[in-house]
Amino acid sequence: MTHPLVTSGQLPDEERTFLTSLVEKGGPEPHQDKEFTAIVNNLEDDEMDSFREIIKSSLNENTLIGHGFVKPYGYPGDFSIIHNIYRMFVNPDPKYSNWDRFFQDQAGAHAVRNRKDYFLKRCGELEQRKQKEIKILILGCGPATDVHEYLIKNPGSRIHFDLVDFDQNAIDFARAQNLSFNDSIDYFRINVLRFKPYQWYDLIWSAGLFDYFKDKHFVYMINKYYRYLSEGGEYIIGNFSSSNPTRRLMEVLSDWYLNHRSKNDLIRLALETEAGKDQVKVEMEELGVNLFLRIKAA
Ligand SMILES: C[S@@+](CC[C@H](N)C(=O)[O-])C[C@H]1O[C@@H](n2cnc3c(N)ncnc32)[C@H](O)[C@@H]1O
Repeated sequence: MTHPLVTSGQLPDEERTFLTSLVEKGGPEPHQDKEFTAIVNNLEDDEMDSFREIIKSSLNENTLIGHGFVKPYGYPGDFSIIHNIYRMFVNPDPKYSNWDRFFQDQAGAHAVRNRKDYFLKRCGELEQRKQKEIKILILGCGPATDVHEYLIKNPGSRIHFDLVDFDQNAIDFARAQNLSFNDSIDYFRINVLRFKPYQWYDLIWSAGLFDYFKDKHFVYMINKYYRYLSEGGEYIIGNFSSSNPTRRLMEVLSDWYLNHRSKNDLIRLALETEAGKDQVKVEMEELGVNLFLRIKAA
């Protein structure tokens, strides 16, 4: 008799048949989302290869899950997939569209779009509060679709953005989509661990970056940039919450691993820096999947 905790590494026949039928239809249809998600969430580590073997013809650049898996730019969460999440891209080819519809429907994808809206709100508030030129530094800017949307919606904005990313492809994409806003943006292709700011900022914003840092680097990155906040300035760091319901799907389908953190984790890490308790708080977007650590200048 097999021990209940030991699996053969093979999925049960019923699940194999179900998964094969999904691949044939270009991914799950909405009524199949729950069943598919349950299979993924309950997958044992030794069943991963068998699972991926069945869906391998969907794990290519034609799908968002496949783009995550293949990592054409060498790392997960590149500018291209983030931009496609923002614009709700779904491959029109029926061989793949159900997969993209499924992906875009996940809480994790909604949370990415919500974090853009959260950022746009912060920019708007700053512009209302401050009469002079406003300076914002973005660490790990990716496609800068958020900046693009803000500048489109706010002609005559007084915000100047400094954008930092280590991927030349991301910088090229960000620059191309923001060509008409050249005067409002400077680009820096450099690792955020090495960038040295030349001025102070009203807002330092980073989303989709600190989730890749271990705690040690997370704390280092707060201390490194915190001193470049101007009086009344704020440092806001996005991080996926430990309660992200899309976590296992990202790991299994796209081999996309993040350091998820709780509100308490974020506060604890912030208090390991120069920041005091009264300068630190945590907010979240409406789903509670993306948390935002806000640190005020001293
Ligand atoms: C998930 S994307 C987020 C993009 C953008 N912040 C957003 O929310 O739309 C992360 C970006 O951070 C960049 N990145 C990752 N590690 C970096 C590092 N150490 N230095 C500079 N950029 C980095 C990647 O190239 C990528 O473009």
